[in-house]
Amino acid sequence: MEKVVLAYSGGLDTSVLIPWLREKYELDVITLTANLGSERDLPTIREKALRTGASEAYVEDARDVFVRFFCWPALQAGAIYEGVYPLGTALARPLIAKLLVDVAHRVGANAVAHGCTGKGNDQVRFDVAVAALDPSLRIIAPVRDYRMHRDEEIEYAREHDIPVPVTANSPYSIDENLWGRSVEAGILEDPWEEPPEDAYAWTTSPIAAPNQPEYVEIEFDQGVPTALNGETLDGGEIINRLNRLGGAHGVGRIDHIENRLIGIKSREVYEAPGAVILHAAHSEVENMTLSKDQLRFKAKVAVEIADLVYNGQWFSALHQDLAAYVASSQRFVTGVVRVKLYKGTLQVAGRRAQHSLYDPGLATYTSADTFDHQAAAGFISIFGLPLRTQAHIQWLGRSSDDILRLSAGEVAGGPRSPIPS
Ligand code: ARG
Repeated sequence: MEKVVLAYSGGLDTSVLIPWLREKYELDVITLTANLGSERDLPTIREKALRTGASEAYVEDARDVFVRFFCWPALQAGAIYEGVYPLGTALARPLIAKLLVDVAHRVGANAVAHGCTGKGNDQVRFDVAVAALDPSLRIIAPVRDYRMHRDEEIEYAREHDIPVPVTANSPYSIDENLWGRSVEAGILEDPWEEPPEDAYAWTTSPIAAPNQPEYVEIEFDQGVPTALNGETLDGGEIINRLNRLGGAHGVGRIDHIENRLIGIKSREVYEAPGAVILHAAHSEVENMTLSKDQLRFKAKVAVEIADLVYNGQWFSALHQDLAAYVASSQRFVTGVVRVKLYKGTLQVAGRRAQHSLYDPGLATYTSADTFDHQAAAGFISIFGLPLRTQAHIQWLGRSSDDILRLSAGEVAGGPRSPIPS
């Protein structure tokens, strides 16, 4: 029998796939479960895979790799899809693909399989990432091939004596790892409905959050978080603690109408307290240490990288090139940020940095001022020259009311709005 390595979560979909791949594809199934930091009972998942018919069950602790090679580069890039989604699920997929490929090579399999449907982003991410790492591997997606639905899966599971996990009763479809929790389906499919409290698991409702604000100091070394409140910690622990701390204060809830790569608009709720806090803090160290031009250019790169990550292009050459730019941009991004968490809100309360470009002598309004005021007049005379020239030649004879209207977008000669006095 030929072998296939299945990305296995222990949930309903992927459990059903074990006998399914044997029966319909006549393959010997080896499972791979990646530990990316969500609190799951991994020995039990492994047991379940074997009991359900897998010939081997691998469980890989990939937390450190996830943090170092995915979360931190994404954090440094400021990669947030459509301005709100920190990309927890999207970042995990290329890593799981890598682990699948590695196990396939180890056991001599020439195929890998996943439980994605044909409607989502994850199928793209798995397929594209696996192909980038080993284009000779066959990729099997039975849920996509057979258009399996949940009720059919449950029936199939019962027939095959597969315990249907309690989570199958949950109205939601959930994915989680260190960098966040993604929740979709159920009542959330109605964009008008406010997400009910039971959609959230990591965050307290802001109403129930403590009435006292809490401060946390986050330290960065060249763009990498290294300590909380002065205590040096490893990356996974920093993210974990911020998930708990932010969650307790109701911080990190995201309600997103998002645009999937395959053209569907969908509604997803995210909980990502750690990622949200770290992004806010990290960009604040950048505000202190990067020039205006660096910040502006980097913001464009951030949008580009977020799209690449979302669209499953993690292993692409363009991403490698942009990641090198981001890494280079971090050489002075060292400092401390004090963040205030309070009733669902997050505020940066203070920041300092070793190589800060914030010059108190230039910034101050006191007599300690070192700025050359005369130079400002000369600068403005040059900077304003094009506008003065235009006023002389093109706006000559126009009233200030006219120019007011034009500058609000009213076309010359068109209808004129009355100006209140
Ligand atoms: N929409 C998100 C993404 O494409 C998350 C999908 C995660 N799946 C889930 N069952 N909630 O990255």
